[in-house]
Amino acid sequence: MTTDLRPKRLLGKVVVVTGAAGGQGAAEAEALTREGARVIATDVTEAPGCRRLDVTSEKDWAELAADLRVAYGQVHGLVNNAGVTWRARIDEVRPEDMARVHAVNVSGPLLGMQHLVPLMCPGASIVNVGSSAALTAHYPVAYTASKWALRGLSRTAAMELGPRGIRVNIIHPGFIETEMTASAAPAFREANVRETPLGRAGTVDEITPLVTFLLSDDASFVTGAEIPVDGGLTAHGGAKPISDALRPGA
Ligand code: NAI
Repeated sequence: MTTDLRPKRLLGKVVVVTGAAGGQGAAEAEALTREGARVIATDVTEAPGCRRLDVTSEKDWAELAADLRVAYGQVHGLVNNAGVTWRARIDEVRPEDMARVHAVNVSGPLLGMQHLVPLMCPGASIVNVGSSAALTAHYPVAYTASKWALRGLSRTAAMELGPRGIRVNIIHPGFIETEMTASAAPAFREANVRETPLGRAGTVDEITPLVTFLLSDDASFVTGAEIPVDGGLTAHGGAKPISDALRPGA
Protein backbone atom coordinates (compact mmCIF):
# COMPACT_ATOMS: atom_id res chain seq x y z
CA MET A 1 0.00 0.00 0.00
CA THR A 2 1.37 3.45 -0.88
CA THR A 3 0.59 6.44 1.29
CA ASP A 4 0.24 9.87 -0.33
CA LEU A 5 2.20 12.19 1.94
CA ARG A 6 1.72 15.34 -0.13
CA PRO A 7 -0.16 18.13 1.68
CA LYS A 8 -3.84 18.18 0.75
CA ARG A 9 -4.50 21.41 -1.10
CA LEU A 10 -8.23 21.69 -0.42
CA LEU A 11 -8.32 20.55 3.18
CA GLY A 12 -11.48 21.77 4.92
CA LYS A 13 -12.95 23.43 1.85
CA VAL A 14 -16.62 22.84 1.02
CA VAL A 15 -16.96 22.51 -2.76
CA VAL A 16 -20.06 21.98 -4.92
CA VAL A 17 -19.66 20.22 -8.29
CA THR A 18 -22.52 20.12 -10.79
CA GLY A 19 -22.98 17.40 -13.39
CA ALA A 20 -21.00 14.99 -11.20
CA ALA A 21 -22.82 11.74 -12.08
CA GLY A 22 -20.26 10.91 -14.76
CA GLY A 23 -17.62 12.26 -17.11
CA GLN A 24 -15.50 15.16 -15.99
CA GLY A 25 -17.76 16.04 -13.05
CA ALA A 26 -17.39 12.61 -11.43
CA ALA A 27 -13.61 12.73 -11.90
CA GLU A 28 -13.51 16.24 -10.43
CA ALA A 29 -15.55 15.17 -7.39
CA GLU A 30 -13.14 12.28 -6.76
CA ALA A 31 -10.00 14.35 -7.27
CA LEU A 32 -11.20 17.19 -5.05
CA THR A 33 -12.15 14.72 -2.33
CA ARG A 34 -8.63 13.24 -2.51
CA GLU A 35 -7.28 16.76 -1.97
CA GLY A 36 -9.24 17.01 1.29
CA ALA A 37 -12.33 18.90 0.12
CA ARG A 38 -15.80 18.14 1.46
CA VAL A 39 -17.41 17.70 -1.97
CA ILE A 40 -21.12 18.00 -2.61
CA ALA A 41 -21.51 16.14 -5.90
CA THR A 42 -24.75 17.00 -7.70
CA ASP A 43 -26.50 15.99 -10.91
CA VAL A 44 -29.93 15.94 -12.52
CA THR A 45 -29.29 12.23 -13.15
CA GLU A 46 -29.58 9.85 -10.21
CA ALA A 47 -26.18 8.43 -9.24
CA PRO A 48 -24.65 6.98 -6.07
CA GLY A 49 -23.15 9.72 -3.92
CA CYS A 50 -24.81 12.48 -5.96
CA ARG A 51 -27.41 14.87 -4.64
CA ARG A 52 -30.16 15.49 -7.19
CA LEU A 53 -29.85 19.05 -8.50
CA ASP A 54 -31.07 20.34 -11.84
CA VAL A 55 -28.91 23.39 -12.51
CA THR A 56 -31.84 25.12 -14.25
CA SER A 57 -34.02 24.86 -11.13
CA GLU A 58 -34.01 27.86 -8.78
CA LYS A 59 -35.78 25.69 -6.21
CA ASP A 60 -33.02 23.04 -6.26
CA TRP A 61 -30.32 25.68 -5.82
CA ALA A 62 -32.24 27.43 -3.01
CA GLU A 63 -32.66 24.11 -1.15
CA LEU A 64 -28.97 23.27 -1.59
CA ALA A 65 -27.89 26.70 -0.31
CA ALA A 66 -30.18 26.40 2.72
CA ASP A 67 -28.84 22.92 3.54
CA LEU A 68 -25.20 24.03 3.16
CA ARG A 69 -25.79 27.05 5.38
CA VAL A 70 -27.00 24.76 8.15
CA ALA A 71 -24.40 22.03 7.62
CA TYR A 72 -21.25 24.11 7.03
CA GLY A 73 -22.09 27.81 7.30
CA GLN A 74 -20.06 28.56 4.19
CA VAL A 75 -18.99 27.36 0.76
CA HIS A 76 -15.44 27.69 -0.57
CA GLY A 77 -15.81 26.42 -4.11
CA LEU A 78 -18.24 25.88 -6.97
CA VAL A 79 -17.48 23.95 -10.14
CA ASN A 80 -20.11 24.74 -12.77
CA ASN A 81 -19.42 21.63 -14.82
CA ALA A 82 -22.90 20.41 -15.89
CA GLY A 83 -23.45 20.91 -19.58
CA VAL A 84 -25.39 19.60 -22.56
CA THR A 85 -24.76 19.68 -26.26
CA TRP A 86 -27.11 19.78 -29.22
CA ARG A 87 -25.59 19.09 -32.59
CA ALA A 88 -28.04 20.90 -34.89
CA ARG A 89 -26.43 23.14 -37.49
CA ILE A 90 -27.35 26.69 -38.44
CA ASP A 91 -30.00 25.68 -40.97
CA GLU A 92 -31.80 23.31 -38.61
CA VAL A 93 -31.36 24.64 -35.06
CA ARG A 94 -34.56 26.00 -33.52
CA PRO A 95 -35.03 28.83 -31.02
CA GLU A 96 -36.25 26.29 -28.45
CA ASP A 97 -32.98 24.34 -28.86
CA MET A 98 -31.02 27.54 -28.25
CA ALA A 99 -33.10 28.26 -25.13
CA ARG A 100 -32.81 24.73 -23.72
CA VAL A 101 -29.03 24.54 -24.11
CA HIS A 102 -28.60 28.11 -22.82
CA ALA A 103 -30.68 27.24 -19.74
CA VAL A 104 -28.27 24.46 -18.70
CA ASN A 105 -24.95 25.87 -19.91
CA VAL A 106 -25.40 29.54 -18.99
CA SER A 107 -28.38 30.11 -16.68
CA GLY A 108 -27.32 27.06 -14.64
CA PRO A 109 -23.92 28.55 -13.72
CA LEU A 110 -25.57 31.93 -13.13
CA LEU A 111 -28.09 30.43 -10.68
CA GLY A 112 -25.30 28.52 -8.97
CA MET A 113 -23.37 31.71 -8.40
CA GLN A 114 -26.45 33.67 -7.31
CA HIS A 115 -27.36 31.09 -4.67
CA LEU A 116 -23.92 30.11 -3.39
CA VAL A 117 -21.99 33.39 -3.49
CA PRO A 118 -23.88 34.62 -0.39
CA LEU A 119 -22.26 31.70 1.44
CA MET A 120 -18.77 32.50 0.14
CA CYS A 121 -16.03 34.37 1.98
CA PRO A 122 -12.82 35.94 0.65
CA GLY A 123 -10.66 33.17 -0.83
CA ALA A 124 -13.59 31.32 -2.38
CA SER A 125 -13.23 30.17 -5.98
CA ILE A 126 -15.64 29.44 -8.83
CA VAL A 127 -14.59 27.36 -11.84
CA ASN A 128 -16.81 27.42 -14.91
CA VAL A 129 -16.38 24.72 -17.54
CA GLY A 130 -16.40 26.27 -21.00
CA SER A 131 -15.15 24.50 -24.11
CA SER A 132 -12.78 24.89 -27.03
CA ALA A 133 -16.08 25.74 -28.77
CA ALA A 134 -16.10 28.95 -26.73
CA LEU A 135 -12.86 30.10 -28.38
CA THR A 136 -13.57 29.31 -32.02
CA ALA A 137 -16.35 28.67 -34.49
CA HIS A 138 -17.87 25.23 -33.97
CA TYR A 139 -20.66 23.46 -35.84
CA PRO A 140 -23.18 22.77 -32.99
CA VAL A 141 -24.74 26.24 -32.97
CA ALA A 142 -26.65 26.18 -29.69
CA TYR A 143 -23.70 24.69 -27.79
CA THR A 144 -21.17 27.10 -29.27
CA ALA A 145 -23.31 30.17 -28.58
CA SER A 146 -23.97 29.02 -25.01
CA LYS A 147 -20.28 28.49 -24.24
CA TRP A 148 -19.38 31.90 -25.65
CA ALA A 149 -22.07 33.35 -23.37
CA LEU A 150 -20.53 31.51 -20.42
CA ARG A 151 -17.23 33.26 -21.13
CA GLY A 152 -18.98 36.61 -20.85
CA LEU A 153 -20.66 35.55 -17.64
CA SER A 154 -17.35 34.36 -16.18
CA ARG A 155 -15.49 37.56 -16.92
CA THR A 156 -18.32 39.71 -15.60
CA ALA A 157 -18.55 37.62 -12.43
CA ALA A 158 -14.76 37.88 -11.94
CA MET A 159 -15.05 41.66 -12.15
CA GLU A 160 -18.06 41.87 -9.84
CA LEU A 161 -16.91 39.38 -7.23
CA GLY A 162 -13.23 40.36 -7.14
CA PRO A 163 -13.74 43.10 -4.56
CA ARG A 164 -15.26 40.45 -2.26
CA GLY A 165 -12.17 38.25 -2.66
CA ILE A 166 -14.04 35.64 -4.71
CA ARG A 167 -12.22 34.37 -7.81
CA VAL A 168 -13.94 33.23 -11.01
CA ASN A 169 -12.14 31.43 -13.83
CA ILE A 170 -13.18 29.44 -16.88
CA ILE A 171 -11.46 26.41 -18.36
CA HIS A 172 -11.82 25.30 -21.95
CA PRO A 173 -11.49 21.53 -22.46
CA GLY A 174 -10.77 20.25 -25.95
CA PHE A 175 -11.86 16.77 -27.03
CA ILE A 176 -12.14 14.75 -23.80
CA GLU A 177 -13.25 11.10 -23.70
CA THR A 178 -16.65 11.12 -21.93
CA GLU A 179 -20.27 10.18 -22.63
CA MET A 180 -20.71 13.50 -24.37
CA THR A 181 -18.06 12.83 -26.99
CA ALA A 182 -18.90 9.10 -27.20
CA SER A 183 -22.25 10.15 -28.67
CA ALA A 184 -20.59 12.10 -31.52
CA ALA A 185 -19.88 10.71 -34.99
CA PRO A 186 -16.48 8.95 -35.34
CA ALA A 187 -15.50 11.62 -37.88
CA PHE A 188 -15.81 14.23 -35.13
CA ARG A 189 -13.25 12.44 -33.00
CA GLU A 190 -10.89 11.84 -35.94
CA ALA A 191 -11.01 15.47 -37.05
CA ASN A 192 -10.38 16.69 -33.50
CA VAL A 193 -7.39 14.42 -33.04
CA ARG A 194 -6.01 15.47 -36.44
CA GLU A 195 -6.26 19.17 -35.50
CA THR A 196 -4.80 18.68 -32.01
CA PRO A 197 -1.03 19.26 -31.93
CA LEU A 198 -0.59 16.65 -29.18
CA GLY A 199 -2.25 14.22 -31.58
CA ARG A 200 -4.76 12.56 -29.25
CA ALA A 201 -7.92 13.02 -27.22
CA GLY A 202 -7.68 14.11 -23.57
CA THR A 203 -8.90 12.27 -20.50
CA VAL A 204 -10.92 13.43 -17.51
CA ASP A 205 -7.82 13.00 -15.36
CA GLU A 206 -6.10 15.69 -17.42
CA ILE A 207 -8.84 18.18 -16.50
CA THR A 208 -8.96 17.62 -12.74
CA PRO A 209 -5.47 18.97 -11.85
CA LEU A 210 -6.37 22.37 -13.31
CA VAL A 211 -9.70 22.46 -11.47
CA THR A 212 -7.91 21.53 -8.24
CA PHE A 213 -5.34 24.28 -8.78
CA LEU A 214 -7.96 26.95 -9.50
CA LEU A 215 -9.95 26.02 -6.37
CA SER A 216 -6.84 26.01 -4.20
CA ASP A 217 -5.06 28.91 -2.53
CA ASP A 218 -2.15 28.29 -4.95
CA ALA A 219 -4.28 30.25 -7.46
CA SER A 220 -4.94 33.12 -5.03
CA PHE A 221 -4.13 35.84 -7.63
CA VAL A 222 -5.73 34.09 -10.61
CA THR A 223 -9.17 35.40 -11.56
CA GLY A 224 -10.93 36.25 -14.80
CA ALA A 225 -8.64 33.79 -16.57
CA GLU A 226 -9.57 31.53 -19.47
CA ILE A 227 -7.43 28.42 -19.66
CA PRO A 228 -7.61 25.94 -22.54
CA VAL A 229 -6.92 22.27 -21.69
CA ASP A 230 -7.04 21.06 -25.25
CA GLY A 231 -3.71 19.65 -26.39
CA GLY A 232 -3.12 22.83 -28.41
CA LEU A 233 -6.33 22.55 -30.46
CA THR A 234 -7.32 26.20 -30.26
CA ALA A 235 -3.84 27.74 -30.16
CA HIS A 236 -3.02 27.30 -33.84
CA GLY A 237 -6.15 29.07 -35.08
CA GLY A 238 -6.44 26.88 -38.17
CA ALA A 239 -2.73 26.95 -39.06
CA LYS A 240 -2.02 23.28 -38.31
CA PRO A 241 -3.30 21.88 -41.63
CA ILE A 242 -1.12 24.46 -43.40
CA SER A 243 1.90 23.56 -41.28
CA ASP A 244 1.28 19.85 -41.84
CA ALA A 245 0.91 20.33 -45.61
CA LEU A 246 4.22 22.21 -45.85
CA ARG A 247 6.23 19.78 -43.72
CA PRO A 248 8.97 18.13 -45.81
CA GLY A 249 7.76 14.71 -46.93
CA ALA A 250 4.09 15.57 -46.40
P1 NAI B 1 -21.10 14.25 -19.77
O1 NAI B 1 -22.28 14.26 -20.68
O2 NAI B 1 -20.39 12.98 -19.49
O3 NAI B 1 -21.50 14.88 -18.35
C1 NAI B 1 -22.37 15.98 -18.23
C2 NAI B 1 -23.15 15.82 -16.93
O4 NAI B 1 -24.01 16.95 -16.80
C3 NAI B 1 -24.04 14.57 -16.94
O5 NAI B 1 -23.81 13.79 -15.77
C4 NAI B 1 -25.45 15.14 -16.97
O6 NAI B 1 -26.40 14.35 -16.28
C5 NAI B 1 -25.25 16.50 -16.29
N1 NAI B 1 -26.32 17.41 -16.59
C6 NAI B 1 -26.91 17.66 -17.79
N2 NAI B 1 -27.91 18.53 -17.64
C7 NAI B 1 -27.96 18.85 -16.32
C8 NAI B 1 -28.78 19.69 -15.53
N3 NAI B 1 -29.81 20.38 -16.08
N4 NAI B 1 -28.53 19.79 -14.21
C9 NAI B 1 -27.53 19.08 -13.65
N5 NAI B 1 -26.73 18.25 -14.32
C10 NAI B 1 -26.95 18.14 -15.65
O7 NAI B 1 -20.10 15.31 -20.39
P2 NAI B 1 -18.67 15.84 -19.94
O8 NAI B 1 -17.78 15.72 -21.08
O9 NAI B 1 -18.25 15.28 -18.65
O10 NAI B 1 -19.01 17.40 -19.78
C11 NAI B 1 -18.68 18.18 -18.65
C12 NAI B 1 -18.55 19.62 -19.08
O11 NAI B 1 -17.43 19.73 -19.97
C13 NAI B 1 -19.74 20.16 -19.86
O12 NAI B 1 -19.99 21.50 -19.47
C14 NAI B 1 -19.27 20.12 -21.30
O13 NAI B 1 -19.94 21.05 -22.11
C15 NAI B 1 -17.82 20.43 -21.13
N6 NAI B 1 -16.96 20.03 -22.24
C16 NAI B 1 -16.82 18.71 -22.60
C17 NAI B 1 -15.95 18.38 -23.61
C18 NAI B 1 -15.69 16.97 -24.02
O14 NAI B 1 -14.96 16.76 -25.00
N7 NAI B 1 -16.21 15.96 -23.34
C19 NAI B 1 -15.21 19.40 -24.35
C20 NAI B 1 -15.42 20.73 -23.88
C21 NAI B 1 -16.26 21.02 -22.87
